[in-house]
Amino acid sequence: MTHTTEPDKGAHTRDGQETKGEHTKEGRGRKKALHRRKFLGGMAGVGLASVGAAGAAFSLLTEGTRNKAAAADGSLVIPDLLEGTASDGTTTFTLATQTGTTEVLSGVSSTTSGYNQSFLGPTLKWTKGDTVLLDITNNLDEDTTVHFHGAHVPPKMDGGPQNAFSAGTTWEPTFEVLDEAKTLWYHPHALGTTAKQAVHGLAGMIIVEDDSDTSAALPGDYGVDDIPLIFQCLAVDSAGDIKYDQAGYLTSGLSFPVLVNGTNVDDTTLGFTATKTRNRFRALNASPADIITIQRSDGGTLTQIATEQGYLTEAAEVTTIRLVAGSRAEFVMDVTEDVTLQVVITTGWIRGGSGTFDFLTVSAGGSDSPDDLPSTLNTIDRYDTTDFTARTITLSNTGATMKINGSAGLTMASMAMISTTLGAKEIWTITNASQLEHSFHLHDVPYQLISVNGEDPTGVDLGWRDTYEVVGGGTIVIAMEFTDFADDTYMYMLHCHLLQHEDEGMMASLMVTES
Ligand code: C2O
Ligand code: CU
Repeated sequence: MTHTTEPDKGAHTRDGQETKGEHTKEGRGRKKALHRRKFLGGMAGVGLASVGAAGAAFSLLTEGTRNKAAAADGSLVIPDLLEGTASDGTTTFTLATQTGTTEVLSGVSSTTSGYNQSFLGPTLKWTKGDTVLLDITNNLDEDTTVHFHGAHVPPKMDGGPQNAFSAGTTWEPTFEVLDEAKTLWYHPHALGTTAKQAVHGLAGMIIVEDDSDTSAALPGDYGVDDIPLIFQCLAVDSAGDIKYDQAGYLTSGLSFPVLVNGTNVDDTTLGFTATKTRNRFRALNASPADIITIQRSDGGTLTQIATEQGYLTEAAEVTTIRLVAGSRAEFVMDVTEDVTLQVVITTGWIRGGSGTFDFLTVSAGGSDSPDDLPSTLNTIDRYDTTDFTARTITLSNTGATMKINGSAGLTMASMAMISTTLGAKEIWTITNASQLEHSFHLHDVPYQLISVNGEDPTGVDLGWRDTYEVVGGGTIVIAMEFTDFADDTYMYMLHCHLLQHEDEGMMASLMVTES
């Protein structure tokens, strides 16, 4: 199926989410993370851009380069797992941005970018409690930065716009992994160039592992029974030029190819042969704007186990999983006969894709009989927000100028700044004063949904989130607690995750200082 160009306002309703499950008192506490700062001896350049041996790193890292879109046998491409190097208690992951070409549209070569390869990046695995160091070289011809979306890290290591580093230089953030098991991702975040760099392929998944009983009970063998699914619905012209801004979206003759792990699934259903009965899938919507909804072609249910920020209290049987741009979810399926998964694309902006695509057939191949899932996956104490500090965040626009609280965040100086203190507990009312779809992302800490368009949250909306849909004219209320990190120079960001909107100014800063 090739789908072209008609604007589609889309239906912005959340449908089909039912939950069921038993409740028990047992369970794992959401452990308060203890922040232990660790510094690397002798690494003066930690957290700062420093000139690296870009040339040498580049040639080493390009050895594994290949066109990921060409899955010759029609099987799902699993992004490589990047091996870290452990030394002195720190695990180092080496990444470098590079350019290349990929068949984003079948049969047409597009100029693309990736980390250590020509499109997308390898998956990183972090373990809670470990100290990691990311050694990232910028081989683009412009500034970039790498943000660890959803990670609870110091603002100086967060990869926001203040961490931008120039062409030919290396940035080496390091931190202790405080997050519990969850699915994160990494992507650029320099002001004004995020959409361009991300749509060309600069995006990758991060899997955080922990030693919880729940993690031990779930599939976790990467690429075997723990499967990443990175979705992108892009806008591409017939010559293969990937569009990322309003001017580009208004060119005629665009196509909106849907990619899964870098492979175009417009006309192809990829295959994955399960070797275990129970399979875990980690879905990431890395699209610039479009909403993706995952479902089974037979109308059956998916067992959702996690939202962006970790395990649900109990597994939820859902018929659809709706992911706004930037959002993630994890689900498991016990596959005893072949199952085909579909992705439904709903446009998130003035133009975008639409349609339903059979993207993956999972063939039954396991002969094992998995135990029942734990009846309790996590303990989530719902916030009592009575004494929380209230704020209002208003999303608006004047034409293509996007604003938060009246300010277009096109520069650090022009963006609205939220100032808070370490330990603050806050309740924010996010109001969408526009008729455009927005996706609200907060850096640093997870949030709970307190209300969604005036309704109490239910089902998977009771899980920890970091990115959530705010429909045109809609309002969400969220609550959070600012733990562990304060800084009076480096800021976190809060913004719309429709990439073009953030580049057009729907970005504000968050300064968390010592109380
Ligand atoms: Cu995924 Cu501030 O970004
Ligand atoms: Cu937006």
